[in-house]
Amino acid sequence: MRDRNQLLVSHVVLCLAIFSKLSSTASPIRTKYGRHEPALDHSDRSLPSRVHHYGSYTRYSKTFSVLFFGAAGDGIADDSKAFKAAWKAACLVPGATILIPSEFKFLIRPITLKGPCMPHLVLQIDGTLVAPLSVAKSKLLQWVNIKWIHDFTIQGSGTVDGQGFALWNVSEIHHLEKETKDDSSVRPTVIRFYKCYNVTIRGIQIINSPQCHLKFDNSLGVKVKNITISSPEDSPNTDGIHLQNTRDVEIKHSDIGCGDDCVSIQTGCSNVHIHHIRCNPGHGISVGGLGKGNSLACVSNISVDNIIVQNALSGVRIKTWQGGVGSVKNVSFSNVQVDNVDIPIVIDQYYCNKKSCRNKTDAVAISEVKYRRISGTYSFQPMHLACSDSTPCTSVALMDIQLSPVNESLVPQEALCWKSYGDSQGFLQPSSISCLHKITRLIKALTKSQNYTCY
Ligand SMILES: *[C@@H]1O[C@H](CO)[C@@H](O)[C@H](O)[C@H]1NC(C)=O
Ligand SMILES: *[C@@H]1O[C@H](CO)[C@@H](O)[C@H](O)[C@H]1NC(C)=O
Ligand SMILES: *[C@@H]1O[C@H](CO)[C@@H](O)[C@H](O)[C@H]1NC(C)=O
Ligand SMILES: *[C@@H]1O[C@H](CO)[C@@H](O)[C@H](O)[C@H]1NC(C)=O
Ligand SMILES: *[C@@H]1O[C@H](CO)[C@@H](O)[C@H](O)[C@H]1NC(C)=O
Ligand SMILES: *[C@@H]1O[C@H](CO)[C@@H](O)[C@H](O)[C@H]1NC(C)=O
Ligand SMILES: *[C@@H]1O[C@H](CO)[C@@H](O)[C@H](O)[C@H]1NC(C)=O
Ligand SMILES: *[C@@H]1O[C@H](CO)[C@@H](O)[C@H](O)[C@H]1NC(C)=O
Repeated sequence: MRDRNQLLVSHVVLCLAIFSKLSSTASPIRTKYGRHEPALDHSDRSLPSRVHHYGSYTRYSKTFSVLFFGAAGDGIADDSKAFKAAWKAACLVPGATILIPSEFKFLIRPITLKGPCMPHLVLQIDGTLVAPLSVAKSKLLQWVNIKWIHDFTIQGSGTVDGQGFALWNVSEIHHLEKETKDDSSVRPTVIRFYKCYNVTIRGIQIINSPQCHLKFDNSLGVKVKNITISSPEDSPNTDGIHLQNTRDVEIKHSDIGCGDDCVSIQTGCSNVHIHHIRCNPGHGISVGGLGKGNSLACVSNISVDNIIVQNALSGVRIKTWQGGVGSVKNVSFSNVQVDNVDIPIVIDQYYCNKKSCRNKTDAVAISEVKYRRISGTYSFQPMHLACSDSTPCTSVALMDIQLSPVNESLVPQEALCWKSYGDSQGFLQPSSISCLHKITRLIKALTKSQNYTCY
């Protein structure tokens, strides 16, 4: 015990030494920026000897470091004002870059970054943006809120840290909900885009969200690549990427680990392509829950391929609440590798977050769902298709499915096909997976009588 303490003490001393070395090397720079002096080379005679205003600086460079705008970058002082000022200045310059420099940590309060800006604005995050601890407990919907911008990129090797752990304690969440008499606990999303067009996110890490990590709402033309999302398995409701009313999306080459859906696709989404990503841990890829509170849901043209899902509740899932209307159409899942996933293939039209929900006849209609080359290990049931009694799932296709229990001593549940119609082809393992029903005239008539159409 004593040895351990000594080790700890020496470790702390070492850390302090490193820190003071770092701060001593960093401090001259900081005082310089603290005096609001842009880092111009004054010996260059072609430039004016003194630049009094940040605006002037933009004539010579398109890079707007938050340090030029008075940010401390120590992770303690509030750097929101500097960040906002940098955004405002860069917004006016075509092709400008707002720089969050590496080796600095910027504490940012909840902030809204608004467009429209000049095209090709880049937010280069090489350092760390960190939320105050109080953000997790605030009832805000988002921490960094980006609105009305087009042709915009977030890139870099830095980190955006939502510091959500203050609210990952489930018993504390329940306590708060009781106190505030609020059963839908609102916790902020780390980065949210609203009404944005042609945005790219690449390279960065988004970690420790109080709830969702990255959200796109009412947007068009989204590219996400080579990013890392990370929150612990037991952090409640921490979705990785959330898409809502958003079209033309590509998410690729990314690593997502969290406590809830890896990617969640909500109503109004179409033309979404997700490929070459790894989800570990979490709840897998999820379309829905759709149709909550008898609402209309429309989702179409979703394609998910070449993904790996590990240590998750489900692999690829579509979930809807009873009573909803609308449709989910043309969804394809192919080349999905699962590894220790409870249920790899799920359609659940009886989704319910309580002990039981009232049975209703309306349902979001699900059709044209393809599963091709899904393989790996599961820990509970290979496939669970629970479609609506009134609106069965149609044109479901299963091709080359190869699933085995993760543990030989496990007695697995058989696959379920409830009100699920379609065709199976190729190799299917376990054999209980070949349970789709052949479509009949009655079913055809039933699906045709659907009087809600999307688009
Ligand atoms: C979670 O919160 C409860 C109630 O506030 C508290 O008693 C418990 O110690 C907390 N647990 C952890 C791991 O922080
Ligand atoms: C988005 O990008 C597409 C293709 O590059 C382009 O046609 C479209 O005009 C852009 N839209 C906006 C709002 O920038
Ligand atoms: C992915 O992002 C990291 C920074 O987070 C960068 O170092 C790496 O080069 C990027 N890889 C590709 C293929 O762009
Ligand atoms: C889905 O794709 C089809 C075929 O490319 C296209 O006709 C249809 O408009 C798309 N749906 C939506 C909602 O974009
Ligand atoms: C289905 O969606 C894909 C995109 O995911 C699209 O290419 C294809 O044309 C769509 N098919 C139909 C029949 O709408
Ligand atoms: C809903 O229907 C199912 C069978 O279709 C039944 O087992 C269940 O008890 C019903 N739930 C309620 C709340 O009525
Ligand atoms: C398999 O399950 C048994 C019984 O639950 C357990 O004792 C054993 O550790 C498991 N083996 C592996 C490799 O998970
Ligand atoms: C949909 O059709 C059913 C019967 O087919 C009818 O009772 C219902 O009112 C219709 N709803 C709408 C919005 O037209």
